[in-house]
Amino acid sequence: MIFKNADVVFADGVKKADIRTEGGKIAEIAPSIKGADAIDCKGLTVFPGFIDLHVHLREPGFEKKENIESGCRAAVKGGFTQICCMPNTNPVTDNKVVVTYIKARAKEVDLCKVHPVGAITKGQEGKELAAIGAMKAAGAVALSEDGKSVPDTKIMALAMQYASDFGLKCLCHCEDAGLVDGGVVNEGYYSTLTGLKGSIRAAEDIVIAREICLAESLELPVHICHVSTYSGVQLIREAKARGVAVTAETCPHYFTLTDEVIASFDTDTKVNPPLREEKDRLAIVEGLKDGTLDCIVTDHAPHHEDDKNVEYNLAAFGISGLETSFALSYTMLVRGGVLGLPALAEKMSGAPARILSLEGGEIAVGKPADLTFADLNEEWTVDPAEFVSKGKNTPFAGRKVFGRVKMTVVDGKIKYEEKRK
Ligand code: DOR
Ligand code: ZN
Ligand code: ZN
Repeated sequence: MIFKNADVVFADGVKKADIRTEGGKIAEIAPSIKGADAIDCKGLTVFPGFIDLHVHLREPGFEKKENIESGCRAAVKGGFTQICCMPNTNPVTDNKVVVTYIKARAKEVDLCKVHPVGAITKGQEGKELAAIGAMKAAGAVALSEDGKSVPDTKIMALAMQYASDFGLKCLCHCEDAGLVDGGVVNEGYYSTLTGLKGSIRAAEDIVIAREICLAESLELPVHICHVSTYSGVQLIREAKARGVAVTAETCPHYFTLTDEVIASFDTDTKVNPPLREEKDRLAIVEGLKDGTLDCIVTDHAPHHEDDKNVEYNLAAFGISGLETSFALSYTMLVRGGVLGLPALAEKMSGAPARILSLEGGEIAVGKPADLTFADLNEEWTVDPAEFVSKGKNTPFAGRKVFGRVKMTVVDGKIKYEEKRK
């Protein structure tokens, strides 16, 4: 296939070029390529296919919230060509059977590439290590206890060592459960105003610091999930300066929103870690800009209405993020003057690929033909009724954003194309 006349986002700048794919790979990039099977992409910008290291697909076990098919549909609609799915399924993804099942189902669905993340401990119970070697052999690309932290530091240290022996990294959800103690929002002015129980930054920062200490002492790499605090950004910045092999992610909601929105009591604003304050939001933006925060993930956490249409304290934590991530990131960071297009591609594609050694992440000859085409000038309004994810839970409903994904190509095949209006 030949994709003609798009503005191509390379690591060192944006250039107009034609891209020819063959056998699922990028075969040629040149000012003008002639041939059959050409698609005119004039007016579109093409990014290396987005890679999301942090997605909840909910299958097996919570198919009412999402399943592998609906989640992958949402992924390609959002421009993602590869996603990593978290292990807090039922049964927990802590063994090769579940890893094998997810891979097989994703292959049948045949939309984007799906990489399972295995649990760190059996049943995510924090007691015994999961079957790490068997999961790696079955195709797990990383380990995580996402949804919580491993409470016992000794077990976490062991996990990092075992993970490294099998060439895997731990993706750490950082939360001291004792300190959170049932808190549902950030502790501050808005928790006081609403009467909702707050949790302080230290509940996140203490575990970020712990994981950094382990990585530093053991001389192993570690990845910090969904950073939400200004102080967490600073801990990571200082660790990087000392040469610790720490990488980190944040999500669009942490650089777009503050806890002000909880005053509505809208349970779609309930997420873990919680939305914080303006000084945190600004630090997240700065962290993305100076490279402290390596990548943007969605933490796509789809929930059924039954789990959200309840009082705030009882509602599930999470935001359905796959279908808004690119537009929010482009609008806030690129239009907001924080990052250029190549830097945004680095956060959404290049860095995620490198962090987990996944193939892809850049537009270059010989790389997989994973391409995301977007119209950067299209302004649209987020409407959860249009989501293909089963999770309609978004705090961004009604928000105007720029940048619309028009087509997503995985291994040279069109997996999503927006219907013409
Ligand atoms: O908001 C969240 N939702 N944070 C988590 O850590 C887990 C996730 C989920 O699985 O719903
Ligand atoms: Zn998490
Ligand atoms: Zn998560």
